[in-house]
Amino acid sequence: MAEPGIFEIIHNCRAIRYFRDEPVPDSLIEQVLDAAIRAPSGSNRQSWHFLVVTDPDIRKTLQGYYKQSFDVYASMMAHVPPREGVSEETQARVVKSAVYLSEHLHEAPVLIIPCMIFEQGRIRGDGAMQDMARKSIYSSIYPAVQNLLLACRAVGLGACLTTLHLMHEEAIAKLLNLPDNAETMALIPIGWPSAKFGPVKRVPVREVSSRNTFGTPL
Ligand SMILES: Cc1cc2nc3c(=O)[nH]c(=O)nc-3n(C[C@H](O)[C@H](O)[C@H](O)COP(=O)(O)O)c2cc1C
Repeated sequence: MAEPGIFEIIHNCRAIRYFRDEPVPDSLIEQVLDAAIRAPSGSNRQSWHFLVVTDPDIRKTLQGYYKQSFDVYASMMAHVPPREGVSEETQARVVKSAVYLSEHLHEAPVLIIPCMIFEQGRIRGDGAMQDMARKSIYSSIYPAVQNLLLACRAVGLGACLTTLHLMHEEAIAKLLNLPDNAETMALIPIGWPSAKFGPVKRVPVREVSSRNTFGTPL
């Protein structure tokens, strides 16, 4: 069978929150990380580090923090209606899978935690240069994260980009023995999916783009 092309992978790379209870070989994790690190980064600094958490106790502790954050977030969002174009049914399906993940995060065989390393320390102070540098550094992890998600999809692994653990950033940094100049940027459960990969549905291009100045139709 022909390998799926890049567009097919992009169009069928949904957030997967349901995983089968089957191990993922280290060789595959290395393969998807090797795709992640091909991503661009500001000044090509590659100031990243990827923690691959397979230890069951650490995974369970992370799930505990994630669940606490999720419960706070879910209670805040409970009365927010779905955005225009998203049906109540679709919204309910997303909420159901998010609740499931909060309760079962530790059952994903692998949790990958991409970190940023601030080689020269964090950028302090206000100003256009500091603002730009901060945005550039923080933005530098997400191309790698997207590469990782797409690479997982390409080899048949499911994954879900999450950030809720950041409500417990300090405790988690301690748990993972992070150096002072490292920050966790996401937490990505990875495993063999027991849900469908796609297709991904989004608000159409014409509704989220303009030509030359904001609001002029493309
Ligand atoms: C920055 C960011 C943070 C996210 N954080 C979470 C999260 O904490 N928990 C979660 O279940 N999904 C999280 N998601 C996944 C989104 O909910 C998901 O990508 C979106 O609903 C689209 O899902 P679909 O690709 O299956 O249509 C996050 C996505 C992004 C880009």
